[in-house]
Amino acid sequence: MARKSFPLSKVYGLLEPGPVILLTTASSGRPNIMTMSWHTMIEFEPPLVGFVISNRNYSFGLLKATKECVINIPAVEIAEKVVGCGNTSGANVDKFERFGLTPKPAARIGAPLIEECFANLECRVADTSMVSKYCLFVVEVIKAWIDPKVKNPRTIHHLGSGNFMVAGEKIKLKSKMK
Ligand SMILES: Cc1cc2nc3c(=O)[nH]c(=O)nc-3n(C[C@H](O)[C@H](O)[C@H](O)COP(=O)(O)O)c2cc1C
Repeated sequence: MARKSFPLSKVYGLLEPGPVILLTTASSGRPNIMTMSWHTMIEFEPPLVGFVISNRNYSFGLLKATKECVINIPAVEIAEKVVGCGNTSGANVDKFERFGLTPKPAARIGAPLIEECFANLECRVADTSMVSKYCLFVVEVIKAWIDPKVKNPRTIHHLGSGNFMVAGEKIKLKSKMK
C-alpha cells in the first residue's frame, strides 16, 4: 500500500489519548473552566494523571498557584459548551455564567465540580518538575465522583482542527490489562 507522508503537526490527532475534559480551577472564590485534551494516565492507584497546560492560559497560573483542580468529564450533549470553554479565557470571561454551567462545591479542594459533567475527579498537583520545560503537570486524583443516572456516556474526542469523534459502540475482549 502506498503511504503518504503525514504532517508532524497533525500527529497528535492520531494519538489523542482520552475524552476531552473540562478542567476547573479557582482562585479567591472565582472559578474557571478550561477545555483540555492533552492528558494521559500515569498510574493506576493512586491515580496519577499528566497534562499539558499552555502557560498562555489563565488556568496555568491558577493551577500553579493553588495546586488544585477538578477533571470534569463531559458527554456529547454539552459538546458546544465544551468547545466554547476552549475558545474563551477566564482572564476576561466568567465561563460558568457564559455557558450556563453549574459549579458545585468539591469535597476536598477549593476548585468546583461541574454539575453537567457525568464524572468529576478532584485532584492535587503531585509533581511540578516538568512544568517549566514542558508545561506538564502531574496530578493525583484524591476523590472521584460519578453520576449514577448516566448509563452510557458518549464522550467526545479531539481529532484536531474542529473535528471530534463521539464514543459509541462498546466491545468486550479478553484483555490482560486490568
Ligand atoms: C478541544 C480542545 C482541546 C484543548 N486542549 C488543550 C490542552 O490540552 N492544553 C491546553 O493548554 N489548551 C487546550 N485547549 C485550549 C484551551 O482550552 C484554551 O486556550 C482556553 O481558552 C484556555 O482557557 P483559560 O485561559 O481560561 O485557562 C483546548 C481547546 C479545545 C477546544
